Amino acid sequence: MNPVVRGLAPLMALVAMGTAAQTLHKPNDGIATTALEQSWAATANNSERHDLLAERPQLIWLYAGSGYDKQFNSPRGHQFAINDVTTIFRTDDGSKTASCWTCKGPGATHEMGLVGEGRFGLHTFGQMGQYMSVSVGCADCHDADGENLQVSRPHALKAMAKIKQPFAEQDRTIQGAQTCGQCHVTYYMQPEIGNGVNIPWIFGSTADDIEKYYDTRQFYDWIHPVSGAPMVKARHPEYEHWSRSAHAEMGVTCVSCHMTTKIDDKGREYTDHNIQQSWQNFEAQCSSCHESEAELKQTIADNKQQINSARAEVEQLLVKAHAEAGALRQDGVQPRDMGAALMGIRHAQWRWDFAVSSHGIHAHNSKEGLDLLAVAKRQATMARARLQLLLEQRPQLKVQYPDLSSKLSAQQAVGLDEAKMQAVKDKFLATEVNGKWPGWSF
Ligand code: HEC
Ligand code: HEC
Ligand code: HEC
Ligand code: HEC
Repeated sequence: MNPVVRGLAPLMALVAMGTAAQTLHKPNDGIATTALEQSWAATANNSERHDLLAERPQLIWLYAGSGYDKQFNSPRGHQFAINDVTTIFRTDDGSKTASCWTCKGPGATHEMGLVGEGRFGLHTFGQMGQYMSVSVGCADCHDADGENLQVSRPHALKAMAKIKQPFAEQDRTIQGAQTCGQCHVTYYMQPEIGNGVNIPWIFGSTADDIEKYYDTRQFYDWIHPVSGAPMVKARHPEYEHWSRSAHAEMGVTCVSCHMTTKIDDKGREYTDHNIQQSWQNFEAQCSSCHESEAELKQTIADNKQQINSARAEVEQLLVKAHAEAGALRQDGVQPRDMGAALMGIRHAQWRWDFAVSSHGIHAHNSKEGLDLLAVAKRQATMARARLQLLLEQRPQLKVQYPDLSSKLSAQQAVGLDEAKMQAVKDKFLATEVNGKWPGWSF
């Protein structure tokens, strides 16, 4: 890296902000003047979120050792992206890779342009924080003059080409969905390209295709500390699920549902950029195909309930499978002697995760969600049957199943101490962030 050029980065970032007029602003800094800009800033009002680990303590056990066991919340408004990635326990003391910035705002792609896509992830999260001023900003989705849509993440452009939907060749409707899909998509951090973000769609974008890619490469995100299984993490595959839905086939996209057309006080139409959980105007957005808003809400609620009960079954099986493999390990059984069972756990948990980490799957593609969970259930059951054979050879061995009745008991089961994680985070914020990253204080 050329240190002189690097030293100029903050200045160049400012220049870029200046040239692209409204492309980079701070959350709610008062620059948002038009109704459209105000709607973008208004995602700051969508502050509600759920502590998913408190709601489902079994996640702490299933994700043990991956980082997701430390803290995992439901998504909220776009204005929170930078705040939340900075304060979440998963980014610890800032010494992890800067790649965690990749899908938080235009600062990340701007810096990638300066240091090189393949080198961005070699920096630490803390080092890059000072350049991340805007949370999911205009430049993520629009080119500099604002006329055209753009996918600004190079790895996402490559990924869209891999699934034979190159961005430049799509109509504006699909381009709109792809602006969302550049972040709302599953990914992994690829060691060979400096921990850069890669979207694993070489063989396609289904759970099976991606698993084939990971298995061929013998890739794992983390080793589960209890079972020793080599695990892969699914991350918010919203684009993947939507792309195989009836809606995608009919040109109903993320934008059709999450960005309504509205009228400003001068009577002009504008696109509402206050992206939030659900649709706002049934008549305008949905009634051409659906008869009743109440029925649609009921369908979504029913889908959610079905998915939740299917996932609970799979979670129970996986919790036990990890514990059983863990007991065998403790008793001296080698991973190679549990190979098929550990692969079964990997494959079942991958499918379960591909369904449950896809936010809104009950509205986007419930059928695929239920299909994934059905296969995951079979795979987890099979893995447990294999482990059972080994357990039967050791009648003296008693498996200890963890107490996952509360967040606290689950944390104790995997050796996590919330106060310690908080202290690490507080120190990072006090010494490296506050007063050092322009505009932020926590
Ligand atoms: C630069 C990356 C990025 C892009 C582009 C992006 N998102 Fe997001 N989105 C995020 C992140 C990160 C969050 C979670 C923020 C948090 O919880 O702090 C999020 C949250 C959301 C939420 C939850 C909002 C709420 O109020 O609960 C929805 C819905 C959503 N995005 C839809 C979209 C749609 C639709 C598009 C395309 C028009 C899009 N996103 C484009 C990164 C992105
Ligand atoms: C047919 C309309 C529709 C389409 C198309 C659609 N969504 Fe959604 N989406 C919804 C609804 C409705 C919900 C909320 C479901 C609920 O109430 O739980 C939702 C939920 C979400 C959430 C979770 C919000 C949260 O807080 O949990 C995200 C993120 C999201 N959508 C992103 C996207 C992205 C990205 C796309 C395109 C790839 C997309 N959606 C396509 C209707 C849609
Ligand atoms: C997450 C992606 C995303 C972000 C961030 C985003 N936009 Fe958009 N914008 C879109 C999409 C998608 C459309 C609808 C595209 C279409 O016209 O088909 C759109 C439409 C527009 C339009 C044309 C339609 C209209 O309503 O006049 C303008 C102008 C615009 N955006 C400006 C902005 C500005 C300014 C910002 C920052 C304050 C911004 N956008 C942030 C995705 C985004
Ligand atoms: C162009 C036509 C069209 C529009 C517009 C449309 N939908 Fe749909 N929607 C469909 C079709 C077709 C299906 C699949 C029907 C089926 O399987 O019975 C569907 C199914 C759904 C489902 C069930 C999804 C699942 O996975 O089970 C939901 C929820 C839904 N739509 C919500 C919406 C919402 C909300 C809007 C407006 C924001 C909307 N749709 C607009 C055509 C449309």
